Amino acid sequence: MSQTTFIPLETLFPVNASQIPAEFQIEPVHQREYLLNGEMRPWQGKLSDVYSPICMPDADGKLQRQLVGSFPVCGPEQAMEALDAAVAAYDNGRGEWPQMSVAGRIACMETFVGKMLDQRKLVISLIMWEIGKNLADATKEFDRTVKYIYDTIDTLKNMDRNSSRFRIEEGVIGQIRRSPLGVVLAMGPFNYPLNETYTTLIPTILMGNTILFKTPKHGSLLHYPLLEAFRTSFPKGVINSLYGRGADVVPPVMQSGKVNVLTLIGSSRVADELQRHHPKLNRLRSIMSLDAKNAAIILPDADLDVAVKECLLGALSFNGQRCTAIKIIWAHRSVVDAFLNRFCPEVSKLKPGMPWVDGAQITPLPEPGKTKYLADIIADAEAGGATIQNEGGGDTVASLFRPAVMYPVQEGMRLYREEQFGPVIPVVAYDDEEEFIQYLITDDHGMQASIFGTDTDAIARLIDPLVTLVSRVNINAQCQRGPDTFPFTGRKDSAEGTLSVEDALRSFSIRSAVATKDTPANKHILNEIVSQHKSEFLSTNFIF
Ligand code: G3H
Repeated sequence: MSQTTFIPLETLFPVNASQIPAEFQIEPVHQREYLLNGEMRPWQGKLSDVYSPICMPDADGKLQRQLVGSFPVCGPEQAMEALDAAVAAYDNGRGEWPQMSVAGRIACMETFVGKMLDQRKLVISLIMWEIGKNLADATKEFDRTVKYIYDTIDTLKNMDRNSSRFRIEEGVIGQIRRSPLGVVLAMGPFNYPLNETYTTLIPTILMGNTILFKTPKHGSLLHYPLLEAFRTSFPKGVINSLYGRGADVVPPVMQSGKVNVLTLIGSSRVADELQRHHPKLNRLRSIMSLDAKNAAIILPDADLDVAVKECLLGALSFNGQRCTAIKIIWAHRSVVDAFLNRFCPEVSKLKPGMPWVDGAQITPLPEPGKTKYLADIIADAEAGGATIQNEGGGDTVASLFRPAVMYPVQEGMRLYREEQFGPVIPVVAYDDEEEFIQYLITDDHGMQASIFGTDTDAIARLIDPLVTLVSRVNINAQCQRGPDTFPFTGRKDSAEGTLSVEDALRSFSIRSAVATKDTPANKHILNEIVSQHKSEFLSTNFIF
């Protein structure tokens, strides 16, 4: 095997600011205010500094994370104020926002999107600096979010049109519409800090709920430029930001019993803890996307070109930091060598670099302890007999980590079960497909799986058991959330509830009906209310 000469990782970091292209240089953003009850509240208390995974050498030549800015570390007092504001704006469903027509809410959202687009460049830049996402993916995250908002608006219009008529069944006349649930606490993850926060926040608001949203630990500052857009697009108290340590600000909010919906994209451990704080669990609806260990299976007759390409994308897009990433690959023993021989050089070819570098696929990791964690799980697999299969795999300098393919991985190694959420790819050899099915049965996760093969009998034999173990089976394709109109959910510890453009609108609302017996007197009442537009709910108004 020929030895590849790799560019040393330390040379990929800028030596000083002049090596950063002007359009990607950033002035530190020092946030001293937050959005609460329709006001930008000034903050003079504790602050949290934000350090980028992008490093530069200090005077001693040691690579140091660069300061991107700072944001408020609020406490329980501010958290409860934010809760009170959301509760008051909802006002038991009688507030301006929950009572506003769907068309009125959509108009506010359209105003917001216009203002959001004005901040596009800064938000993309902050995504790159705060979490190390490359330019192409950071841009995609912003644009995908805007498209998600427009798609959500269109879907809501359709839903509203479908419910703008009466139903007459079994002598009962009724109108059924979706109505809001109340106060929603939303928390997004660091890997898609904008997109995944907004895929819950946007449908929440559009359905007439009020919200407190907590920004993630990494990827917090990028929300700052959008707070003013929220403030000026929606009535006061509809959207309230929550800054601070989760352990300080979230428990009192949950313990109040005033949160009607918890929506979280994060870990099942945190989800369990938060839910337990609520005094009346039966009143709490939870919509959550949680842990995952999506597995790919490579059948003996798989087209290896396709399998390599999709596994590469699936396992290593954004350094494997996606809940939908392929996190373990099962290859049939008859093809495992051939697969590794093709896969490993492609992994090693992935270009490391700073987020602004054209074609950089491996970028700095935002979590400070991550490279050590990845080294630990590699060492654990090595102790069990696995080795790094690809040249350069596991090389680390500061926040940069070259992806490592580990083989043969087996039960007992941490990599076999743990969600690594990073650029280490465990490969398992199997003899019988039943071993793969048993792995999924005994796994705590159940988000997605990928099958690579050409024999339709073998593929079909797997599809039927797999759809009851995970919630999406991908054939000759990586695991992924999109298109956003597809259901995004999971079984076991991987999710609660379903998110997609339409599912999210349903998840953050409940069907309410107004019904009466089909008598001439009741028909007269309905006709008068509708024709004189006396009610927002009981109405045949049609949104065009
Ligand atoms: O982190 C989980 C994301 O929802 C994954 O989305 O599959 O489009 O990268 P994606």
